[in-house]
Amino acid sequence: MSEIVPSVLVKTGQEFKEKLELISPYFLAFHLDIADGIFVPNTTIEGAPELNASTTDLTVTVHLMVSKPENHIVRWLDTVVRCIIFHLEATSTDKVISIINAIHNGEREAGIAINPETPIDQLADYVDLIDRVHFMTVHPGFYGGEFNESVIEKIREFHYFYPDKKISVDGGINPDNAPKLISAGANELVVGSYLFKDKDFSQAVDMLKNVVEGSKTQIPND
Ligand code: DX5
Ligand code: ZN
Repeated sequence: MSEIVPSVLVKTGQEFKEKLELISPYFLAFHLDIADGIFVPNTTIEGAPELNASTTDLTVTVHLMVSKPENHIVRWLDTVVRCIIFHLEATSTDKVISIINAIHNGEREAGIAINPETPIDQLADYVDLIDRVHFMTVHPGFYGGEFNESVIEKIREFHYFYPDKKISVDGGINPDNAPKLISAGANELVVGSYLFKDKDFSQAVDMLKNVVEGSKTQIPND
């Protein structure tokens, strides 16, 4: 079964609180986007202090769209995040394994995100060490990026080679492209603007849930 997870990409603590209040009745988990203005041309809340100040019981995954993620892991280990996702493009190859180890030593799940242009062969040395691969279907940093169709084939190919590895997908997801992503092998769909922009939130959730529930998942796990 594929899961829909709402993304929270906010600039203030107040916005963070409001988004959590909006999503909490409908979801059991959320995806917290963190942008540093260096790896991506946008900034968000720092995230860890706001999360620690909140009483949310939702399961949290943090998506670090930050340069040198090796310098950020420790502060997230002081929060309730269950999974920490960092970008392969944001660090040097000699650091990737130590980042994964730091996350696992903190008893959290580790995910590697790749941008639309990054080929899957760059993941080969790490796939067996991580809990999920996070495929970007937009250029990271903002709500409302344009969905890149070519990533669907990349996901299909990855899933063919690693059928048991969890796949999350992030960016520009809506009821039109969700079924294609699920049939390519996606387990988790991270959704921002389709849910939050210009519509009734509960109707948008229902629309997307109906489409996802009607789609055939390729993988039995999750
Ligand atoms: C953007 C973030 C995404 C974003 C998704 O780079 O990583 O998680 O919030 O939002 P939409 O669905 O609007 O692309
Ligand atoms: Zn994200």
